[in-house]
Amino acid sequence: MTPLRRIARFYNAVKSPGSHVSATPMLPRASRKAYPRFPRIPLLRDGLSQASFADLLARRESVRSFSGEPIAFRALSRVLSTFQILDAERTPERRTYPSAGDRFPIELYLLSFAVTDLEPLGLYHLNIGEGALESLWPLQTDTPPDSLVPEGFVAPGALIVLTAMLQRSAVRYGVNAYPLVLLEAGHVAQNLLVGAVDAGLGACPVASLDDDVVTRAFDLGADEVPIYAVMLGSLPRPT
Ligand SMILES: Cc1cc2nc3c(=O)[nH]c(=O)nc-3n(C[C@H](O)[C@H](O)[C@H](O)COP(=O)(O)O)c2cc1C
Repeated sequence: MTPLRRIARFYNAVKSPGSHVSATPMLPRASRKAYPRFPRIPLLRDGLSQASFADLLARRESVRSFSGEPIAFRALSRVLSTFQILDAERTPERRTYPSAGDRFPIELYLLSFAVTDLEPLGLYHLNIGEGALESLWPLQTDTPPDSLVPEGFVAPGALIVLTAMLQRSAVRYGVNAYPLVLLEAGHVAQNLLVGAVDAGLGACPVASLDDDVVTRAFDLGADEVPIYAVMLGSLPRPT
């Protein structure tokens, strides 16, 4: 999808019937997406390491060539723990990242290439309320796995896809929601990248995915657009 088509899609979404710009700052809590009929795989919650933030930042770099060793589910859980609700009782709920107007438009999905305990070429949604992956369906056979691995990547273990549920933000910010969801995706992605360093994995931000392929693979509705992604993989052994 070209950038212009992407932006046009956003503007069409916020113009759709029922959408409006709310003048009131008090809105009901933004919804969280869930697939209740799909099997859930709880994430392991053993927390991040004791590494200092300075050390994690010093070690961060984009990695595109991975070893092909399956990512341990524990390591994946650690990365995904950087996207969680810390205090659901607080108003607004406190998460590991900030959100403009508490609208929390970002959703996370995962395509597994090689992760222990997950299906190869399985598609998952991260249910943030439950701290679990929801096992959706396998990648359709008419979607070549390579179409979700941009050029330059070798033997990745998983692709984390960040989408935005545009209406959650548009009810408050109208068309200004678009830059806000992009900024928020940046916050989330940086946490995932630093979490990957902590988990001993390689990672790289990805903006060069074909939005149409992602939309079809995850069966996203008209209101949900892919924004960004993070490729993960096991690090090659030092030579
Ligand atoms: C918004 C954004 C999009 C990016 N998209 C891609 C991408 O599609 N493919 C890729 O290989 N790297 C991508 N990168 C990674 C950059 O190429 C990388 O961060 C840059 O070369 C600096 O290298 P470093 O991350 O190792 O410091 C992206 C980075 C950002 C911030």
